[in-house]
Amino acid sequence: MVKVAIFASGSGTNFDNIMQRIAKGELQNIDVTALYTDQTTAPCIQLGQKHGITVHILPPKTYANKQAYEEDVLNHLKNEGVEWVILAGYMRLIGHTLLEAYEGHILNIHPSLLPKYKGIDAIGQALNNGEQETGSTVHYVDAGMDTGQIIAQRTCPIYPNDTKSSLEDRIKALEYELYPEVIKEIIR
Ligand code: GRF
Repeated sequence: MVKVAIFASGSGTNFDNIMQRIAKGELQNIDVTALYTDQTTAPCIQLGQKHGITVHILPPKTYANKQAYEEDVLNHLKNEGVEWVILAGYMRLIGHTLLEAYEGHILNIHPSLLPKYKGIDAIGQALNNGEQETGSTVHYVDAGMDTGQIIAQRTCPIYPNDTKSSLEDRIKALEYELYPEVIKEIIR
């Protein structure tokens, strides 16, 4: 089994889905050492506790700078023997400290058909642009925002009466299938 860490900043439903897949025996290649979050009150914290894993709550503001923050994160990762990092709604750019340590070993999922609609509010951007189709992309992480090499994508329709919330639900349903499939395939 490959040791992985999951990074999240918000609701953590993709994290929760991955943990559920592991519990059901559907994802047997990974062992999640811990959840890492940069937010002190994010709902993902309770989900981590529910799954009985270590939750590292590391707010970047409490460090001198980004490098000091990432060096501390890296120390924890190394102590836990982590080989891969899975970003699941982690709302920060990965800096050079972590990129150098985990080159080619960091995955992200983004709610658009990259290279379209990088960055924040990808769902709103697709909706407001009158797209008839959007989806989700899993990609390797590089220094840019949602710019790393694409691994897999899945599409879904946008309906005329969609709201951001209804579209987000449809995309998340895709993500709960897509991310575990890619994790199973890529992390070995
Ligand atoms: C997902 O839509 C993912 O694509 C994006 O952030 C969202 C995280 O949602 N990077 P959740 O916290 O897993 O519910």
